[in-house]
Amino acid sequence: MSLYKDWGYTSNPFKPSPIEPTLKGLNLLIGREKEKRKLKNRIKNNNGIITVEGQNGIGKTSVINASIYELYEESLSSKENDNFYLPCNKIFQISSKNNLTEFIDDFYFSIAQTIIDKKKEIKESGVKNLKVENLNNWLNSSEVENIKSQISNLGGMPIETSGFAKSGFKKQIRTLLSHIFSNSESSGIVCVLDNLELLETSDDAKRTLEYLRDEIFNIPEIKWFFSGSHNIFRTFISTPRLSGFIQNPLKIQQLPNINASYVLTSRINSYQNHVDNKPYSPITETDFIVLFESLNGNLREVFKRLSNYYSYVFEELDEEPYQKESKSRVFKEWFEQDKNIEFKALKDNLRDSEINLLKLIYLQENNPITDKTLDENNLTSISELVNVISNLEKQGIIIIPILENEYIEQNKYTRRQDFLKNIFISPKAHYIKNKLLD
Ligand SMILES: Nc1ncnc2c1ncn2[C@@H]1O[C@H](COP(=O)(O)OP(=O)(O)O)[C@@H](O)[C@H]1O
Ligand SMILES: [Mg+2]
Repeated sequence: MSLYKDWGYTSNPFKPSPIEPTLKGLNLLIGREKEKRKLKNRIKNNNGIITVEGQNGIGKTSVINASIYELYEESLSSKENDNFYLPCNKIFQISSKNNLTEFIDDFYFSIAQTIIDKKKEIKESGVKNLKVENLNNWLNSSEVENIKSQISNLGGMPIETSGFAKSGFKKQIRTLLSHIFSNSESSGIVCVLDNLELLETSDDAKRTLEYLRDEIFNIPEIKWFFSGSHNIFRTFISTPRLSGFIQNPLKIQQLPNINASYVLTSRINSYQNHVDNKPYSPITETDFIVLFESLNGNLREVFKRLSNYYSYVFEELDEEPYQKESKSRVFKEWFEQDKNIEFKALKDNLRDSEINLLKLIYLQENNPITDKTLDENNLTSISELVNVISNLEKQGIIIIPILENEYIEQNKYTRRQDFLKNIFISPKAHYIKNKLLD
């Protein structure tokens, strides 16, 4: 028995994976009504690639998936509808190490697989501009058998050497798409290219996306979302060849506290294993918010730490707390201990100059960093500052977006303060902020 089963859950409700484009996923998504409305609207406007930007772990992929699913549900529910949007059954990611040919093949196979998986829904939707007879012809053709066997043999990755994937296949899928979705203005398959920050330099990013643009981003029946962290889209918007077809990013902020408290209750309820018994939870809503705020609203980190807390209560205590007060007492003990561990690790790994700069960065919002304060902290030259900042980044304390990193490498910064404007504090550093400033 796992602790979650013991406590009445079907499984761990705090898995850090994004919410999926399914009905279950939609029910798990709390808040984000405005964001969903905007994203759905942007798909319907059919005006180039939609972009979403925000801290890692804040909920970007989840809100995108939920929006796609909502649009899909709307497509199915109204017979008078002209819109038909289908979620792609795979989320794409691309890093600087990926082979682009393989990526493109994988894309086409995923599209084929999505159509095969969703044939029933397409046929039964009754949407006027869908040409179901073309789908039927394709589904009965020998190519489909071939595709199915390749997909099942290779877990989705096509055989490079078959010659099949390379030649007719892409064209066939493109034709099929245009035949099924006869009005691409208001229908198609919705795809996500996630975590664009995996393209490590802006040159990588530009080269990759420009190449893919002519291969897969220009298919009228495919609607694209791009998602990435920390100012990533500034890198592309400055490129004339890309800026034209990339929309301005929707920035995702942390959930308001009022919504965050529902995240806990909704997860607990959705993962309830027995009809009449609510699962046991060792944390109160109030303390969940304390944890949420201490991690700067980063839900992925919140879930990670919360799972640790659940394990702690299960493994270390003789008796689980039941009253609110005792839950709160136990949580506070664990919370202090957990932060102390992080704090100690951080102090052991950082030099005084690094700790001092981190303190300045924490206080930056109310006390802008001046040359004078930098002098006082012995950060008298740019090279010294670069040194300190790089080490903070290596330790996962601060995050430097791609573009800023390149400015640093290319010596584009001439004033010391400029370094500090566009760097971010990681959730880990946020977690021990009060300890460090004490
Ligand atoms: N609005 C929300 N309501 C409930 N859970 C959420 C919400 N947004 C995100 N999550 C959860 O938080 C975690 C991080 O979300 P994710 O979408 O992967 O973030 P990002 O893509 O920004 O890194 C996931 O476990 C996800 O299930
Ligand atoms: Mg994500």
